[in-house]
Amino acid sequence: MLIAQISDIHAGPDLSSLRTLEWAIGWLRSFRPDVLVVTGDLVDDEWRQGYRLVAESLRLLDFPVYLLPGNGDDVQLMRSEFAAVDTWIKATGPMHFRVAVDGLALFGVDVTVAGQSHGDVLPHLPWLMSALADVTTPALLFMHQPPFAIGIEALDRVGCRNGSALLSTLETIHRLPLAILCGHVHRPAFGRLGIIPVQTCGSLCPPNPLLLEGRTDLPVIDAPSFLVHEVSDGGLVSHVVSIPASDGRA
Ligand SMILES: [Fe+2]
Repeated sequence: MLIAQISDIHAGPDLSSLRTLEWAIGWLRSFRPDVLVVTGDLVDDEWRQGYRLVAESLRLLDFPVYLLPGNGDDVQLMRSEFAAVDTWIKATGPMHFRVAVDGLALFGVDVTVAGQSHGDVLPHLPWLMSALADVTTPALLFMHQPPFAIGIEALDRVGCRNGSALLSTLETIHRLPLAILCGHVHRPAFGRLGIIPVQTCGSLCPPNPLLLEGRTDLPVIDAPSFLVHEVSDGGLVSHVVSIPASDGRA
């Protein structure tokens, strides 16, 4: 079972991130994962046409696509533009998703907070609890922001609140998710929430600088990237796919 994950397209009218998305879409059409999950922040600055263009690109894929909004998304615009190209998206309420594919359960929890830049998982724990309660297969949990501070202040100011409550909730169910898979950071990063592995997907827009513990703002040498997760025999291995400058970027 192969689950591709792309995140943080941040498409803007200069089209550079859309070109990177086109490269990723082309690669995924050849690679043919079983499922694609998009973990939020599709466009910048409420760019209506950008949502339409992203939706039209994702429509080219002939495998299922599941979407979460990010803290940079305008949820209403996202809904209306995706609906306009007949791409399924939940019409009202949080854009959670829950799907079973070949013995694997995929959950997406929408942690966006209307009118705010931070996320919050607390209001959605009852949904998550009931969704996970009867799961007997391996599961992956997707969310936009990671459920803890990543160490980069500008990102953590708009991070997801109540990650410790998420951990407490997950610890009450008999089967923990194999991993929590996120976006938001614009860099691949790896950590843990309790004993649960947490990974962030690289972005399709230019990656963020690694501003940790007051270190110098060095030039960013990282490439845009995305992830391919392989789940086999109840185990998980995640692979980073970097996008070459000559193909994917202006
Ligand atoms: Fe983002």
